[in-house]
Amino acid sequence: MAGAANSSRALLLLLCALLYLARLSSGNSEVMKAVNITWSSINFKTILQWEPKPVNYFYTVEIDGDRLVRKKICIHTSATECDVTNALKDVKDVYVARIYSEVPNRDPDDFDIPPYEVSSEFIPYAQTEIGVPTIKSFEQKEKTLKVEIADPLTPYRFEGNGSFRSIRDIFKDDLEYTLYYWKDQSTGKKQENTKSNLFEIRIDKEKNYCFYVQATVPSRSTDRSSQKSSVKCTSVRRDELDGLELEVILIIVAVAVGIIALIIILSVVAYKCTRSKPAATKKESVPLNA
Ligand SMILES: *[C@@H]1O[C@H](CO)[C@@H](O)[C@H](O)[C@H]1NC(C)=O
Ligand SMILES: *[C@@H]1O[C@H](CO)[C@@H](O)[C@H](O)[C@H]1NC(C)=O
Repeated sequence: MAGAANSSRALLLLLCALLYLARLSSGNSEVMKAVNITWSSINFKTILQWEPKPVNYFYTVEIDGDRLVRKKICIHTSATECDVTNALKDVKDVYVARIYSEVPNRDPDDFDIPPYEVSSEFIPYAQTEIGVPTIKSFEQKEKTLKVEIADPLTPYRFEGNGSFRSIRDIFKDDLEYTLYYWKDQSTGKKQENTKSNLFEIRIDKEKNYCFYVQATVPSRSTDRSSQKSSVKCTSVRRDELDGLELEVILIIVAVAVGIIALIIILSVVAYKCTRSKPAATKKESVPLNA
């Protein structure tokens, strides 16, 4: 009897321990505050990111600006990021985000503010990364090289026609492009700036040029410049190239003709030698066979 009671108590203890462990590992009552909150923004497309992944609770993001009435977005999300682009349309405003950690089925009469964490400040105009500009077209004619840049687009649209605003539409004269260019196969790099999206530079005729562009917002103190675009090179027109390289081609042809002539002469000589040789060996071999 005493043995049975003991073992059932042991079983109960074991069950309790298991239940406790299960609770611990599922972490079901632990609501964590958001940490490592970062703004990732490029050409005014802005994503707020944070950690950790929630278990049995949710996050809600609230955007607050100096000129904005607080606005909740990504309500009750179990993700750890939120696209906040549409809440930051006033691009020169100073924003902060609060990230609330909320339990599901909260008592509606509970007016306590759920735990939250506040992000660093973010000013889109000053902090969004400038995307890599692309070279839309280029043309080399006589002594001018024309290069046209495609202004990177933002996610914001014009109200009238619904087309996307470019970063030029937002930065206006506060956006510059720099063209870095050099004569092909030389290392001397030159540069030129423009506040439009078109470069027209004076170059040497009949030489190939290579170049890339970079966008800059000069008013900024940090993150002023975009990454560099890919490098493009011109190739001067065929007829000009032919004129340029005629001498080279003539030399190659002359050398080739010389080599062929040499081969012919050598093979003729070799042929003559082999023809005269068997006669000689025959004469010598006759006495041996006989
Ligand atoms: C926050 O970032 C630090 C450094 O990158 C990292 O060590 C830490 O694990 C992160 N916190 C969470 C909750 O992931
Ligand atoms: C849309 O409208 C803006 C001005 O309201 C103008 O600058 C832009 O060129 C227009 N875009 C198109 C595709 O018509």
